[in-house]
Amino acid sequence: MQHKIVFATNNPHKLKEIQSLLGNHFQLLSLKEIGFEGDIPENQTTLEGNALEKARYIFDKYAFPCFADDTGLEVDALGGEPGVYSARYAGPLQNYGAEEKRSAANISKLLAKLSGNPNRNARFRTVIAYLDGKEEHFFEGIVNGSIIDVRRGSEGFGYDPVFIPEGQTGTFAEISLSEKNKISHRARAFALFVEHMKRQKS
Ligand code: IMP
Repeated sequence: MQHKIVFATNNPHKLKEIQSLLGNHFQLLSLKEIGFEGDIPENQTTLEGNALEKARYIFDKYAFPCFADDTGLEVDALGGEPGVYSARYAGPLQNYGAEEKRSAANISKLLAKLSGNPNRNARFRTVIAYLDGKEEHFFEGIVNGSIIDVRRGSEGFGYDPVFIPEGQTGTFAEISLSEKNKISHRARAFALFVEHMKRQKS
């Protein structure tokens, strides 16, 4: 039997990625499908806080099992920046129309701040908060890597063109979505989430 759960996100990239990771075990309902339109608050200062705030907001309105994720790029030489502010690093979201424009500005700021710095260590970290009606659950996925100083590749989104995952030669923007799903922060967090859900079924 398919389990219906709501993924509290407005990001179509993520919905596509997670759908391909979850397979047939679950029927993911989008916010649109449950009739929610608008923005979900995201006012916390940690990835954990933001993920929980988003899941709780939708759970309280619709009483459906619900999960939300939050991801940040944490750069060592910048004390963990942009972290929870990764999406709006170069300025408020409303300053930028298309997501591509925003990502381009975010990357430009990142590269400017890292200019001349030999310490390029960074990681993507994803936190998922899941509310099943009884408890809060958290799942974390990390991929370590490094930031290069020139964009490479056209796949993916966000900071993908400047992030090379550990053990690879290409950036996240130079590999296919299915390759990225084998190693990404989000894939790792969601693998733990899926394991948890499977344990609940048996
Ligand atoms: P979100 O919490 O998944 O919306 O991620 C926040 C921001 O982190 C996004 O707007 C992107 O800038 C960045 N980000 C998240 N995941 C990725 C990824 O897989 N590749 C590149 N950038 C990402």
